[in-house]
Amino acid sequence: MILVTGGAGYIGSHTCIELLNNNFDVLVVDSLDNSSPEALKRVEEITGKSLTFIEGDVRDATLMASLFKDYPINAVIHFAGLKAVGESVAEPLMYYNNNLISTLILCEAMKNASIKNLVFSSSATVYGDPQTLPLTEDMPLSATNPYGRSKLIIEEMLRDLPAADALANGDNNWQVALLRYFNPVGAHPSGKIGEDPSDIPNNLMPFITQTAVGRRKQLAVFGDDYDTIDGTGVRDYIHVVDLAKGHVKAVEKLLSAEGIDGVQAYNLGTGNGVSVLQMVNSFAKENSIEVPYQIVERRPGDVAACYADVTRAQKELNWQAELGLKEMVQDSWNWQSQNPRGYR
Ligand code: NAD
Ligand code: WQD
Repeated sequence: MILVTGGAGYIGSHTCIELLNNNFDVLVVDSLDNSSPEALKRVEEITGKSLTFIEGDVRDATLMASLFKDYPINAVIHFAGLKAVGESVAEPLMYYNNNLISTLILCEAMKNASIKNLVFSSSATVYGDPQTLPLTEDMPLSATNPYGRSKLIIEEMLRDLPAADALANGDNNWQVALLRYFNPVGAHPSGKIGEDPSDIPNNLMPFITQTAVGRRKQLAVFGDDYDTIDGTGVRDYIHVVDLAKGHVKAVEKLLSAEGIDGVQAYNLGTGNGVSVLQMVNSFAKENSIEVPYQIVERRPGDVAACYADVTRAQKELNWQAELGLKEMVQDSWNWQSQNPRGYR
C-alpha cells in the first residue's frame, strides 16, 4: 500500500489515479486545506477502484504513527504542503511550519515503522535563478523565496538520513527520490479532475483557463522584454498525467530489487521551453477560444527561462513525458469548461 500525503490536491489526485491503475492500494491523508473530497470521489469514479481516505494533518504525530501501525504501507509519496510563492513571502513562518514540520513528523513516523521508501515533491524552484540551461540535477541550488527555501531545506534534511541509518544499523535502508517538478499543467483527459485554485490563480495556466471561461477579464502577461524567443518568460510545462506517471515509476524503482542508492534527485519536465505567448496562442488555437491579454511589468522574482535536462529520469526511472503542448492546453480547457467553478 502506498501512503499519499496531500493526495486530494492537484498533483496528488492525478497520481492516485495512476497508482490505482497500476494496481497499488492507496491510502490518502489530507487536511483538505487546499482541496476538496470531491476530487477523491472522482478518482474512484474514473478508475472504478476505491482508495482509503483519512482526513488529517501530517503534522499530527499520533495520527501518522497510527497509519503506519494500521495499514501495510510499503512506500510514501509526500505531496502535502503549501505552494504559493507570493504567500510564502508574506507568511514565511506558516510555510516553514507546514512544509518542514510535516516532513519531519512524516520521516519520524517512517523511521519508527522502518518504512524508509519516500518520494518527495520537490520543485525546479530549488535551482533559483538558473545560470545555464537546460538544468541538470547537479547544478547549483539556491532559493529566492521562503517556499523555495522550504523545499531546499527539506532536500538537505532528507540527504542526512542515509548516513545516520548506516551509522545506527550498519547499513542504510532509506531510499528517497526527490522529484523536481518543472511547471505542471493540464488535467485528466476525462475532464473530471484538475487544478482548482481557491483564490486568484498565481500560475499561468489556471489564469488562462479562468479568463477563457469568463471568471477573469484578461490575462496579465508579466513582461515582454526578456531575452527569449518573443520576450516573454520561458518555462518547461509538463502535463500532470505525465507527472503522475513519473511518481509511479519512482515508486516502482524504490520497491524494485535495484532500488535507489540513498537520496537521488530527478528532474520531471519535458525538456522543452515554451514562452507565455506561445502558451496563450496554442491555447487559443487548439480550443478555438480567445484569451484576452495585456503585457504588463515583469513580476518580481521571475526568471527569464527555465527548462530541464531529463536524461537522468529517462535512464534511471525509465520515464519520459509523452504528452505535448496540444494535450496540455486541450485537457486544461476540458476540465475548466466542464467545471467552471472547479469542485464548488
Ligand atoms: P495542492 O495544494 O493542490 O495539494 C497539496 C495538498 O496537500 C492539498 O490537498 C492540501 O489540502 C494538502 N495539505 C497541505 N498541508 C497539509 C498538511 N500539513 N497535512 C495534510 N495535508 C496537507 O498542490 P499541488 O499542486 O498538488 O502540489 C503538490 C506538491 O507538489 C506540493 O508539495 C508542492 O509544493 C509541489 N509542487 C507543486 C508544483 C505546482 O506548480 N503545482 C510545482 C512543484 C512542486
Ligand atoms: C509561468 C510564466 C510568468 C502568471 C511557479 C513557482 C514554482 C513552481 C511552479 C511550485 C512566467 C508568466 C504567470 C500570469 C504571466 N511551483 N505569467 N501571467 O513562476 O515558473 O513557477 O510555479 O513549486 O516554484 O515559482 O510559474 O505559472 O507562475 O509562471 O505572464 O498571470 O507565466 O511570468 O513567465 P513559475 P507560473
